[in-house]
Amino acid sequence: LGEDQCCDLVLQALKVPGTEIADSNAFAAQHGAATEVMSNAIKSLGSQDMVMTQSQAVIEWVMTEEGEGSFKHESAEFSLFNRFPAEGLEEATLSELERHALNYLKSQRLVTFNKATKRCMKVEGATMERDTTHEMMVRFVRGSLEALSKDEQKDVQKRKLVEKRTRKLIKVVRGPAYAETRKPTVPFLTKDMLAKGNWDQVNFKPLKLDAISAHPPAGHLHPLMQYKSMVRRIFISLGFQEMPTSRFVESSLWNFDALYQPQAHPCRDMQDTFFMKDPALMVTMPAGGLVEKIKQMHEQGGNGSIGWRYHWKEEGRKNIMRTHTTAISARMLAQLGQNYPAKFFSIDRVFRNETLDATHLAEFHQIEGMVIGKGLTLTHLMGTIRQFFEKIGMHDISFQPTYNPYTEPSMEISAFHPGLNRRVEIGNSGIFRPEMLTQLGLPNDVQVLAWGFSLERPTMILYGISNIREMFGPRMDLDLIENHPLRLLGVHTN
Ligand code: PHE
Repeated sequence: LGEDQCCDLVLQALKVPGTEIADSNAFAAQHGAATEVMSNAIKSLGSQDMVMTQSQAVIEWVMTEEGEGSFKHESAEFSLFNRFPAEGLEEATLSELERHALNYLKSQRLVTFNKATKRCMKVEGATMERDTTHEMMVRFVRGSLEALSKDEQKDVQKRKLVEKRTRKLIKVVRGPAYAETRKPTVPFLTKDMLAKGNWDQVNFKPLKLDAISAHPPAGHLHPLMQYKSMVRRIFISLGFQEMPTSRFVESSLWNFDALYQPQAHPCRDMQDTFFMKDPALMVTMPAGGLVEKIKQMHEQGGNGSIGWRYHWKEEGRKNIMRTHTTAISARMLAQLGQNYPAKFFSIDRVFRNETLDATHLAEFHQIEGMVIGKGLTLTHLMGTIRQFFEKIGMHDISFQPTYNPYTEPSMEISAFHPGLNRRVEIGNSGIFRPEMLTQLGLPNDVQVLAWGFSLERPTMILYGISNIREMFGPRMDLDLIENHPLRLLGVHTN
């Protein structure tokens, strides 16, 4: 019988309301169907809600191999007794089944062990007219254990003629969508069915929402972007606000002067900075006396500082590609007003006129941050930076003193690079100089902790990329993009 026929049999059997199939296996056997096929048919009807099943574990008694033998032919003891040799038997020559039989005969005093001959001998005049074991097994088959007396039940169990077995019994009853006959099952609704209006005469295959599907050829985040979104989440979780970073072209005023970087500083040279040809100059200088305050601070100082003591020129009007995101922080501080304490971060591109090699590109990303408040110290700065790197899985960072024109004190941050087997610089930090804060209009008792971290270096460590040029443009390995989940620094390194 096939599955379809089994389905029909099941539906027919439940035709009278309230009827049930008490045991699906017995039902299969009764109709000469394979249990497997029947159970598939029931499953399929169940998935269409035409039937419902309840499974129940039942304990049943079945015959052992020995019990089966006694039932089909005759018991081992009956057979042994009837062909018992007159000269007796040597126990050692017997099979296991025969030894069982012999023991039984001994227990019934039909056979005894003769010490003189060392053999088992038939007892004088003993007879065995009936095969009671065979008779018991016949009764057992007709009505299971209940067909036997209490003593017999104990006997067949003790002699291991029958044994206990648990079986899963599946009961089948009508389901909410029961019908005497089945509608054909189809996978989809078609235009044709709608046109003919016969869409309700079919069953639709249920959708398998948990099926494992082929991987869709979807887009994946570039490793840098994965790392960037993780960094963003970390800063947001620490209560930081994101600064707007869309201004790739910046004026020297914001990129350098506002940070109290002297105009003769070598980093303003053509070497490091891309100057804009068009428009070469900032069109409108910021109002509100900011330019004057910057000029004043650079030339003469103030607030306890003696300034840089040079003639400040309108150098600040020159447009450049921003060399760091600290320019954004300067703009933020200038418009901060009384809105502190506050914490800010940004992650975006900066541009430098570098000689391109395995670790340098003309554009890269910086993770910028600052904490503004009163009573802030270097310890707060170190604690904040440590906490950030802990969160990306880097537990072994260290600080070295360094120089920055706009921070004092300044600290470089380094971490161990397992690939290079040495410590590498991953960031720079410090406390903004009072000259910078004063010229941007912040009060004397406010400190600003600040840092700039590399985005590329940790990403390269994470993904085992040794050449920065393999992370940008056509040399990027697409497989790496598709198959690498976000990793934590220091946790997985290869
Ligand atoms: N602007 C620095 C750089 O480009 C990083 C930095 C930011 C250092 C803030 C100190 C404070 O490397």
